[in-house]
Amino acid sequence: MALLEVQGLSVAFGGSKAVDGITLQVESGQLVGLIGPNGAGKTTTVDAVTGFVPPTGSVTFGGILLDGPGRFRRHALSPTKRARLGLARTWQSAELFVDLTVMDNLRVAGERNADAALEEILESLGLLAFSGDLVTALSHGQRKLVGVARALAASPKLVCMDEPAAGLDTKESEHLGKRIREIADHGTAVLLIDHDMGLVLSISDYVYVLDFGKVIAQGPPAEIRTNDQVIEAYLGRRHKEQLAAEATK
Ligand SMILES: Nc1ncnc2c1ncn2[C@@H]1O[C@H](COP(=O)(O)OP(=O)(O)O)[C@@H](O)[C@H]1O
Ligand SMILES: [Mg+2]
Repeated sequence: MALLEVQGLSVAFGGSKAVDGITLQVESGQLVGLIGPNGAGKTTTVDAVTGFVPPTGSVTFGGILLDGPGRFRRHALSPTKRARLGLARTWQSAELFVDLTVMDNLRVAGERNADAALEEILESLGLLAFSGDLVTALSHGQRKLVGVARALAASPKLVCMDEPAAGLDTKESEHLGKRIREIADHGTAVLLIDHDMGLVLSISDYVYVLDFGKVIAQGPPAEIRTNDQVIEAYLGRRHKEQLAAEATK
């Protein structure tokens, strides 16, 4: 059994299904990408997996049923309990304590970890030099890295990262990509969400593509890159967005 098993997961807001029956797996230490255009249901999937919105379907983590059909739904585990089991996440907007130092942001999240372990995390992300700095003194890119560091502070088995590269320039994004790959290589599984295919395809072991709440393709990056449906979902949409943007110029 995989570390994370998601089966037939659906989330409805009002009448419309944001997530529509998706099934996916993440193995221990694996880096799995979840990509798709804006509005595809990526964030909602992570919200459901980590316990922030109630889904139908089932979510199993480390062999434990977190949420499932019938009586299991009433006993769905809270986000805090899921985090204690080793299921961590980052947020699309970094959600740091801006009036605390970088190190204190990690201390809050990693209460059971000694400072030495937290410093090791900062070091691995190239943040150690900023450990005593207030978050407000950091660049946007550095703050995104602190968000990742904070998720790692609790020594999770799996980190779900929601658009960690959003707002970063190409160089910062490449740097972050390398660090994320290292996190997985050191044994922490990663579910990496992004709407930018480039970063995800370059570092993931396996990729799921969402569109309109459904998995429209899955496979190793090399297969996803040449998948016609994926190209259509992205290029078709992007082309339309470009036309719309040009029309308003
Ligand atoms: N709290 C909410 N209430 C109503 N609709 C929502 C809510 N959150 C997301 N949605 C809708 O669900 C769909 C999927 O959104 P989301 O999961 O944020 O997509 P993504 O992260 O892939 O951009 C979108 O159509 C979005 O408008
Ligand atoms: Mg999102």
